Amino acid sequence: MLSAVERKIEQFIDDLNDKEVSGLYTKLPHGKRLRAKLILKIAGSSLAAVKTAAIVEMIHAASLLHDDVIDDAYTRRSKPSLNALYGNKTAIMLGDILYSKGFLELNNISAEVAKIISNAVVQLSLGELKDVSLSKTFNLDKEIYLKMIYQKTASLMEASAGAAALLAGKDKTSYMTYGRNLGIAFQMIDDLLDITADAATLGKPALHDFVEGKTTLPYIYLYEVLDASGQNKLKSLHAKVLLKEEQKWILEQMRMHQIIEKSFFEARELIEEAIEVMTHHGEEALTSIAMQMIDRKF
Ligand code: FPP
Ligand code: MG
Repeated sequence: MLSAVERKIEQFIDDLNDKEVSGLYTKLPHGKRLRAKLILKIAGSSLAAVKTAAIVEMIHAASLLHDDVIDDAYTRRSKPSLNALYGNKTAIMLGDILYSKGFLELNNISAEVAKIISNAVVQLSLGELKDVSLSKTFNLDKEIYLKMIYQKTASLMEASAGAAALLAGKDKTSYMTYGRNLGIAFQMIDDLLDITADAATLGKPALHDFVEGKTTLPYIYLYEVLDASGQNKLKSLHAKVLLKEEQKWILEQMRMHQIIEKSFFEARELIEEAIEVMTHHGEEALTSIAMQMIDRKF
C-alpha cells in the first residue's frame, strides 16, 4: 500500500518537470511514513486516500527541511541533512516547492479535506514559531509545552486521521482524537530520545534540545523535583554548550528522580487512550500504529 504513496509522490515531483528538484528529492531520506500509514489504515487505498497520503508526506517533508534550517541540524535520520549537503537556500526552496505542490494537489481532493489539512499546516507553522520563541526562555510551564507540541507535531497527525475519516465516511471527531494523542505522544518520545539515545542512534548529539534552549517535558519535570541549588544549576546550564561533567550531572539527576520513566508514562497514557477510542470503534488494526509511536529505540 505504501509503495502506491511513494509512486504518487514521485509522480507529483515528475509533474514539475525539473531535473534539479527530482535530483534533490532523491537525497531526502523517506522516514517511517507514519502519516501515510495512518491515512491508508483508516481510509483504505482508494486513489483519493493515496493522493492525500502523498500530499501529507510532502508537506511533512517540507516542514522538516525548514526545521533543519531553523534548528541548524546537520543530520536527519543519521544522514547529512539537505541543508548540510546543499546549504540553507536550497533546503528552504525545496521545502517551498514540496508544500506548494502539495497544496496545489490538495485542491483536487475535496474542499473539506483541503480545509482540514491546510488548517493543520497553519498550526504546524505557529507551533514551530512558538518552539523557536520558547527556546529563548527557560520555559517551565507544562501547558505551554503541551500546546506547542500539539501545534508543531500533533496537528498534522490529527488532520491526517480526520481527513482519512472524511474520505472513508467515518466519524471524524474520534479519529482526530486518536491522531492528536498519537502526535503528542510521538513528540514526547522524540524529546525523550534526545536525552536517552546516544549520538549514533539519534543522528545528532545527545541533549541537543537543551543546548538549543528547548526545555522539553523531562527538563520541566526535573526542575520541579530539584532543590533550590539544583534548580539554579539546571537554569545556569540552559542554552549552553555543555561540558562532559555537566551532561553527566543532568543525566544523573534525571536517573535519580526517574524523570524518563515519568515522562514515558505520560506518553504511554496518551497512546492507551487513543487505542481505547479506536477499539470502541472496532478499529483494532489501528493499535499497532499507535504502539509504534512509543515503541522506539531508547
Ligand atoms: C520537528 O520538530 C518540526 C516539526 C514537526 C514541524 C516543523 C514546522 C515548520 C518548520 C513549519 C513550516 C511548515 C511547512 C509546511 C513548510 P523537532 O525539531 O522537535 O524534531 P526533530 O528532532 O525531528 O528535528
Ligand atoms: Mg528539529
